[in-house]
Amino acid sequence: MENSLFDTQIGHDVHRAIELLKNGELVAIPTETVYGLAGNGLNEDAILKIFEAKNRPYFDPLILHIGHIDMLNKLVISVPVGCQKLIERFWPGPLTVILPKRNIVPDIATSGSSFVAVRMPNHRITLELLQALSFPVAAPSANPFKYVSPTSSNHVFQQLQGRIPYILDGGNCSIGLESTIVSFLGDDIKIQRLGGITVDEILEVLPTATLANQPEEHPVAPGQLKHHYAPNCKLICVEELENYKAQILDQNKKIGVVVFQNSDKAGIQEKLNSFGIPTIQIVWYVLSDKGLFQEAAQNLFATLRQLDDTGFDWAIFDWVPAIDLGMAINDRLKKAQYLPK
Ligand code: TXA
Ligand code: MG
Repeated sequence: MENSLFDTQIGHDVHRAIELLKNGELVAIPTETVYGLAGNGLNEDAILKIFEAKNRPYFDPLILHIGHIDMLNKLVISVPVGCQKLIERFWPGPLTVILPKRNIVPDIATSGSSFVAVRMPNHRITLELLQALSFPVAAPSANPFKYVSPTSSNHVFQQLQGRIPYILDGGNCSIGLESTIVSFLGDDIKIQRLGGITVDEILEVLPTATLANQPEEHPVAPGQLKHHYAPNCKLICVEELENYKAQILDQNKKIGVVVFQNSDKAGIQEKLNSFGIPTIQIVWYVLSDKGLFQEAAQNLFATLRQLDDTGFDWAIFDWVPAIDLGMAINDRLKKAQYLPK
């Protein structure tokens, strides 16, 4: 890689990761959702390094990760009762809460907002690391800006090799989708990002929570980008086939097709055939043979990466049922869709 600054190592040495973070360096860390690119969340220089390593624009704020509930009170001014309930139910876990920040949190971590995002991840080795530190760890997903989030240490290595000194290996991520983000603005409780905890699970605890408007191409709030998790190939949904038929047929190459479960194949194959795409051209990617949402979520990002690794120019997907984790999976598929310039 150009501008290689580090001989990036992958390993299980949590003490090495702790020392690097204490010295203001970056470390990729495993979480149950996706791998994060971690740095001292109270140290402006370390935070700057995160933005730089990811090529991330400064208007996209970072989540602070904590290993103990006491740290939350050092970072935020107050924790409303509703937030308290949610935390008690879901921490450690794939829940991020947005609350008014204290001055100790650098503005650069929140992109100038007076609110900060905080989460306690549920991963043994990362909790051990966080509990050994006297500061929270800022960690966006450990992918270059706008690419698919990493769910294994190898995914991180493929893309951040040379840019960071160490990747703490904690195996494959068990959830596979980023955390659900909930904001608290007085009585206004909003689900800002769909994620590893379903909308129904949030509503069970907080029936007044509502789903925020979905992200715009030019966000008013920081971090709310529409096109975000895209692979390099041109990924389109089945309904859009009509618009791209000519270009796809023209290339006469294999096409990756992503479906939720095995039983979805027949219907999609028929549709592709009716558009003139022969069966022999189709390479299937099934997110979960039996149609289990959790398994599909675990496999989603690795599957999108596989499309690129295989070298497809075009890929097609079908939506998954919009219930349970299917809502968050569809949200990521939507953000991964090809947008013509
Ligand atoms: O599961 C996750 O949340 C993973 C793992 C590593 O913890 N992290 C993650 O971070 O997905 P990232 O940087 O890829 O996404 C963070 C998003 C921002 O893009 C933004 O939408 C929202 O969190 N966010 C963070 N701080 C915010 C703030 N102060 N106000 C509003 N939104 C915020
Ligand atoms: Mg991200």
